[in-house]
Amino acid sequence: MSKSFDVIVIGGGPGGYIAAIRAAQLGFNVACIDEWKNAKGGPALGGTCTNIGCIPSKALLQSSEHYDHAAHHFADHGIEVKGLGLDVAKMLARKDTVVKQNNDGIVYLFKKNKVTFFHGRGSFVAAKDGLYDIKVAGASEDTLSGKHVIVATGSNARALPGAPFDEENILSNDGALRIGAVPKKLGLIGSGVIGLEMGSVWRRLGADVTILEGLPTFLGAVDQQVAKEAHKAFVKQGLKIELGVKVGEIKSGKNGVSVAWTNAKGEAQTIDVDKLIVSIGRTANTLGLAPETVGLKLDERGAIVVDEECKTNLPNVWAVGDVVRGPMLAHKAEEEGVAVAERIAGQHGHVNFNTIPWVIYTNPEIAWVGQTEEQLKAAGRAYKAGTFPFMANGRARALGDTTGMVKMLADATTDEILGVHIVGPFASELIAECVVAMEFRASAEDIARICHAHPSLSEATKEAALAVDKRTLNF
Ligand code: FAD
Ligand code: NAI
Repeated sequence: MSKSFDVIVIGGGPGGYIAAIRAAQLGFNVACIDEWKNAKGGPALGGTCTNIGCIPSKALLQSSEHYDHAAHHFADHGIEVKGLGLDVAKMLARKDTVVKQNNDGIVYLFKKNKVTFFHGRGSFVAAKDGLYDIKVAGASEDTLSGKHVIVATGSNARALPGAPFDEENILSNDGALRIGAVPKKLGLIGSGVIGLEMGSVWRRLGADVTILEGLPTFLGAVDQQVAKEAHKAFVKQGLKIELGVKVGEIKSGKNGVSVAWTNAKGEAQTIDVDKLIVSIGRTANTLGLAPETVGLKLDERGAIVVDEECKTNLPNVWAVGDVVRGPMLAHKAEEEGVAVAERIAGQHGHVNFNTIPWVIYTNPEIAWVGQTEEQLKAAGRAYKAGTFPFMANGRARALGDTTGMVKMLADATTDEILGVHIVGPFASELIAECVVAMEFRASAEDIARICHAHPSLSEATKEAALAVDKRTLNF
C-alpha cells in the first residue's frame, strides 16, 4: 500500500470524513486517520457526532419521546395503554445499534470512494520539501507523507474546575448517553443545547431534573420571544431551570453528587442528585496532534487558528470543524470539509456563515437561521416581524401539538428575510425551507406567494411570511 497521499485527513468525524470523501471525488489519493475505538477496540468512524453526540442523542430523544407520548398523550387520541413499561437497557442497546449503523455506513463510503483509512492517532512529525510526515500510532505504526493535510480533530467536553468527569457520577455527554437506569434525581450544569436535550431525555423517562445555568437569560443566543415560549413549555413539562446561579463546591461520593450553588438572589443552596451532567460547552481538541513539531498555530483557547477559508498558518495545512472558530455543529464541520477539498482542487468552495441553521431537538423543537430580533435591534437595522402560532395551524391541531410559532424577520425596506425562528413541532425540518430562502436572498413575500401543501406545518411558515405584511389568512 502506498504511504504517500495527495491529502491526509486527521480525524474521521463529520468534518474529516466528509472532507476525505469530497477530496477523493475530486480525484485525489486520500488517507483519513481516526483514533476512535468502539467497545471492542475496533474503529468507530464518525467522531463525536456519530459516537457520543448528534446520533445517539437523537436516538434517545426519539425513544424517550415515544415513551412520553405513550405515558401522557396517547389517551388524548383515544388509545389506552395498560402496563406501560420501560426497558432502559434495550433503549440504550437500540441507540448503540443506530450508532453502529452510522459507523458502518462511513466504512462503506470510504470503500466506495477509495479513501484509505488508518486506525490510530495521527501526529505531525516533520515538514520537508513541501510534504508533511504524519505518524499513525495504532495497533501498528505507520508514517504517511502528504502534500495537503486537513486537521479535523474535533472537541472535548469542558469540565468544571475541581469536578473532573468520572462518567459514573459526574458525566460528560459521553456518560449522559449511557446512564444504565433512570436516576431519581438528575442535576445538570448548563442549560445550553446538551443540557436541554439530555435533561429532556431523562425527564421523559421519569427523572426529577434540575438544570443550573450561570447566565441570567435563558438561551441568550436564541431570539428571546422564541426562548420565552420554549422556557414556558419546558417548565410546564417539569424541567426545573434555575438561571443566574453560581455553582460552588461539587462533592461526589457513593450515594451520588452534592452540588453547592448560589441562586440569583445570592442565597446559598445545596442539591443532592444521583447523577450530575456537566454541559458547559466544549473545547477544541489537539491532544496528540503535536502541532508544535511543525509550528501549527493555536489560539489562547487551544483552537487551531484559521482564516475564513480554513487555511492555517502553514502552507497546505487546513483545519475544519470543532477544532476551529465558529459554531460547533456537525453540518458546519461538513460544509467546511467540502469547501476545503474543493479549494485544494482549485475550486471556489464557500461556506455561508449567515445561513447555518441551528436546531435544539427538545419538545418543542427550537430551530433558527439568520439574525434574532435582539441582534437586529442592536445593529439598528429597520425590520418587520411576522409571527404565526401553531395553535392556528390545522396539521398541528391534528398532531395534537400546537405549542409555539414561526417568526420571520425581514428588512423593513427590501423585505429580504433576515432571520427565521421557530419553536414547535418539526422545527428541525421546517427550518430547511427558510435556509433555502435566505441562501437565495428571498423576500418574505416570495415565501408568502409560494403554494404550501395543506394541511402541513409548513403553512405556518407561509403564514408567518404573510404576517410580515400584516395579512395572515388563518389568524
Ligand atoms: P468530531 O466529531 O469531534 O470528530 C473528531 C474525530 O477526530 C474523532 O473521531 C476523534 O477521535 C478524532 N481525532 C482527534 N484527534 C485525533 C488524532 N490526533 N488522530 C486521529 N484521530 C483524532 N451538532 C449538530 O449539528 N447537531 C446535533 O444534533 C448535535 N448534537 C450533539 C450532541 C452532543 C451530545 C454533542 C456532544 C455534540 C453534538 N453536536 C451536534 C455537535 C457535533 O457533534 C460536532 O459539532 C461535530 O461532531 C464536529 O465534527 P468534527 O468533525 O469537527 O469533530
Ligand atoms: P452550550 O454552549 O450550548 O451551553 C453551555 C451552557 O452552560 C451555557 O448556557 C452557559 O451559559 C452555561 N455555563 C457555562 N459555564 C457555566 C458554569 N460554570 N455554571 C453554570 N452554567 C454555565 O454548550 P453544551 O450544551 O455543552 O454543548 C456544546 C456544543 O455542542 C453546543 O454549543 C453545540 O455547538 C453542540 N451541540 C449541538 C447540538 C445540536 O445542534 N442540536 C446538540 C448538543 C450539542
